[in-house]
Amino acid sequence: MTFQMTPERGRFVTFEGGEGVGKSTQLARLADHLRECGFEVVTTREPGGTEKAEKLRDFLLSGGAAPLGPLAEAALFSAARADHVQALIGPALKRGAWVLCDRFADSTRAYQGACGGVDARTLALLERAAAGETRPDLTIVLDLPARDGLARAATRRDGGETADRFENEGLSFHERLRQAFLDIAESEADRCCVIDAARSVDDVAGAIRAVVHDRFLAHAAQAAQ
Ligand code: TYD
Repeated sequence: MTFQMTPERGRFVTFEGGEGVGKSTQLARLADHLRECGFEVVTTREPGGTEKAEKLRDFLLSGGAAPLGPLAEAALFSAARADHVQALIGPALKRGAWVLCDRFADSTRAYQGACGGVDARTLALLERAAAGETRPDLTIVLDLPARDGLARAATRRDGGETADRFENEGLSFHERLRQAFLDIAESEADRCCVIDAARSVDDVAGAIRAVVHDRFLAHAAQAAQ
């Protein structure tokens, strides 16, 4: 199906969740589907997405900022986000593209806030400074028991990746993290949708497509008739 819809501003969809929940696989699946529907789709990730932000990514994920503590890490994730929004996400949305982003500000709230102890008011200020009015239209929260997610991430590492700064945290950190994402989804239910990620890749992809069609494309299809 091809949609004849050129919104004035594109759609911004973020994928969130703990380690090993399958965000990047599902993001790629949704991107393929939206391209088949005829949309321009930009896929990106945080931290990163631009040359400058990728440099900060390397520093953050190698644990370079860990000795400075969660507030400094939150500030650096936000600095990377500011460049990402300004140079990539903002312009893409402005020209009407869909932007699918692997993690965004909810990850700062969950990792540095709920798990790192940085207070919500400080994080809200950082979020506003970094992203301004650029907020996700939809956030897919992929939910999986922490133990299962860590096991999946470990399998991925058998393929040659090394554990990063946050994968090295213990099980209780990851259980808190899972709850933090569920709490965010509950407090912003209009924006967030929790998807059970314990099912097959195809089932999860189908559930995500259904949410996206329901939220954004059903109206466009009706209008085009
Ligand atoms: P990544 O390899 O993308 O992890 P994953 O595959 O789990 O998404 O690394 C991103 C890591 O950075 C991940 O452990 C979460 C963490 N992170 C934060 O702590 N704060 C943030 O604001 C963001 C965007 C990521």
